[in-house]
Formats: sequence, C-alpha cells, structure tokens
Amino acid sequence: MPAELVCFEPRCRARYSIVDVLYNCPRCGGLLETDYPDWQYDATALKRLWRERRTSNAALDASGVWRYREIIPFLADSDRVVSLREGNTPLLDAPRAASYAGLDRITFKHQGFNPTGSFKDNGMTCGAAQALRLGMKRVACVSTGNTSASMAAYASAAGLEPIIFIPHGNISYGKLAQALEYGARTLQVEANFDQILALVRALAERLGIYLLNSINPFRIEGQKTIIVEMMDQRDWRAPDWIVLPGGNLGNTSAFGKALREMRALGLMEKMPRLAVIQAEGSAPFYELARAAEGSSLEAVGKPETLATAIRIGDPVSWPKALHEVRSSNGVVEKVSEQEIADAKAQIGLCGIGCEPASAATLAGIRKLRAAGLMRADEDVVAVLTGNLLKDPDYIYRYHTGQLTTPAGAKIEPTFGNRPTVVPNDPDRIAALLG
Ligand code: F0G
Repeated sequence: MPAELVCFEPRCRARYSIVDVLYNCPRCGGLLETDYPDWQYDATALKRLWRERRTSNAALDASGVWRYREIIPFLADSDRVVSLREGNTPLLDAPRAASYAGLDRITFKHQGFNPTGSFKDNGMTCGAAQALRLGMKRVACVSTGNTSASMAAYASAAGLEPIIFIPHGNISYGKLAQALEYGARTLQVEANFDQILALVRALAERLGIYLLNSINPFRIEGQKTIIVEMMDQRDWRAPDWIVLPGGNLGNTSAFGKALREMRALGLMEKMPRLAVIQAEGSAPFYELARAAEGSSLEAVGKPETLATAIRIGDPVSWPKALHEVRSSNGVVEKVSEQEIADAKAQIGLCGIGCEPASAATLAGIRKLRAAGLMRADEDVVAVLTGNLLKDPDYIYRYHTGQLTTPAGAKIEPTFGNRPTVVPNDPDRIAALLG
C-alpha cells in the first residue's frame, strides 16, 4: 500500500515521500496530509474484519487505533508500534445533559477514557511509530498540557527522549504532573502557546528533534480513528452532528479527513455535520467562519480562557479545519466562561465528567439549539476530549464560588455543590442530613 505526503493547498498539491521529515510543504509552506492514492477496499469485508478484531487479544487488535489500521496505512510494517491500549473509548448516553441543551438525546464519545486521559493518545501512538520508523531519538512538542502528557508517555514507552515546551503558569497541574511522571524534559517558557510553537519549530530543525504537534500529519491519522471507532460502535449509522471543541484545530482536521475517507471508501453513506466550539476569548476560527470567502485567519494576540487546553490564538491547522467544516456543511460557535462552567457541571451530574475544554461542546449545543441551528430530534454525538481529573482546581473553585474569569469577573456556581464542614457529632450530622 503506497502512502505519500501531499500538500493540502489546492493550487500546489506537491507530493513527497512518506519518509521525508516534513511538517509543511517545502514548495509553498502549506500543511501536509497523508494520502493513499490506490487504496481500495470491500467496505463490508472491512467492517467485518474490524468487528472480529474486537475479540482478539493481539496488542494491535486490542488498540482502538491500530484495530483500524487499514484506514491509516502509512507504516510499511507495524513491528515497532507502541500501544498503551489507546482508543476503545465509550459512547455514553446522557439524558440530563440532553435536556439541559434542549435535545431529545445526546451521546458523548468520551476520549477521557484514554490511557493518559485525552484524545491525544489516538494520535500519539501513530506519531511515535513514525518517529521510530524515521530513526529519530528525540521528540518534542509545545502544548497546553494534554499533548505533552500523551507525548511523554508514548515517547518513554517507545524508548524515545521526550522534550516538552509549555506556557509557564498556564497549564493545569494534572497535565504537568503527568509529563513529569512520564519522564519528559520539561521546559516552562515565559510565553503563550502560539509564541512557543514558533520557537519550537525553529529549534526542531536546528537540534534534529522530531516535532509531534498536531501539524504532524501522522498524529492526524491516529485521531481519525476516534470517528471510525464511533461509527463502528454505532453499527455504521452516521449521526446528524459531531460536536467538538476547537483549539489548534488538529482534531477538526482529523475528523473531517476521516469522514471524507469513510465516505469515499463506502463505509458511510450520510455525511454528519461538524460543529466546532471555541471559547469566547480564544475564538479566531469562529471569526474566520463568519468572514468573507477567501479570508485568512486573523490571530488573537492575547488568547484567554479558563479552558486552558483551548487557549490558542493562532491555530496552525485552520486551512484544513475550514475546508472540513465547509465540506460537512458544518458550523462554528463560541461560548462564554460561564456557559462552559455550567455545562461542565451538568456533564458531571450525569456521572460522566470532563475537563473544561470538553464542556464547551454541551455549552455550544445549547446555543445552537437556542438559535434554531440544531433541532431537538437530531442525532448528536459530542466528543469529550479530556478526563475530569485533568483540572481539579477549576472544579473546586467552581463549586465553592471562587472561580473567576481571566478578566476577574465572578463565575456563578449555578450548579455549585459546596462541601460542608461538620463537627464530630452524630446528633448534629443526623440533624443536618435529616
Ligand atoms: N480539548 C482538549 C482537552 C485539548 O487538550 C485540546 C487541545 C483541544 C480540545 C483542542 O483540540 O487543538 O485539536 O483543536 N490541546 C492541545 C494540547 C493544543 O497541547 O494539548 P485541537
């Protein structure tokens, strides 16, 4: 199965070898994606094969990424794949969240069930496999937290040296703690995500380090399987909508590519619509989606949001993401800090829970419903991108009424649940609990 890298820019489309170490097109600077010019499958046989592999204990089959290896065939052989049993994340019904948003029904695809607690693991197993294939020794990323936690784990598991660059003071402790525990060399830079990404891209070439940010096309390949697995779990019935938070827009690019490819391979008949939700203070993609045809993204210089995972003002993958949103007849919405916080508490009350960026999905759906853009009876899958325990500080502050926006305004604990201090006295506790 020949695989190639191809420039995403329609007027360039230059092709490169799958083993060239490239992040952007050397000819025009465009983003790159993998392409499999001659792939051809019998869709029914492929679905049957993937379903059969669910009963296999072989490491590749037990992975919710590599089980679908026919749709990510960029490796010549899979001997050096490092799997931590990523993917295999559940679809969860959440009636209470559905009624909060004004839907008859909602399903969460919960990526927080991954080995390091976020969707990044789906992509990282592929990025690490490509790093090994290229003979790289050191890998690096800049991250708002989850990418670095995931990269640290997969690099260490693969015997690679992980180096991570994070914005000083602006990532949650849960994520920083993971990177330290997984053995990453951790550099806290006095700059924001966008500034550090520019720095790291310059350094990667100079120091011969392999970059595992989401501009890396192999990470995007792995993240496609989130949608393939979701379709498999739904017996290949496409939903009306797939809703996800947008930060650097790698995931939007991956989901769109997965949908296009599944359609072309005959795996899926109807095209779901993508709804990308951004935080109000970091919403350049929301603005772009409203700008005139042919506009370029205007970066937000000082992005702000308590959902630090998506605190990104200059998302690199915007050309891909815009194409994918348009080809799926999708929408982009933005939500406030209060809306994110309340939606997150509602997801918690379903017994599900997630990190703040993930809750932007439910907040966005509620807004899209209120605006009449989404119907109550539509079939909606929202992707929860990260685990609740990634950011416990945010949760404690919300429930105790101490959470404030980056500008210092109070966030109301609308669904707050304050712990009560009680004396060691059975009568008084009994009186309290009635
Ligand atoms: N949700 C979570 C929990 C994330 O960690 C991220 C991105 C996103 C959503 C947005 O995804 O960038 O593909 O649009 N986190 C990156 C990181 C930037 O460094 O961990 P995106």
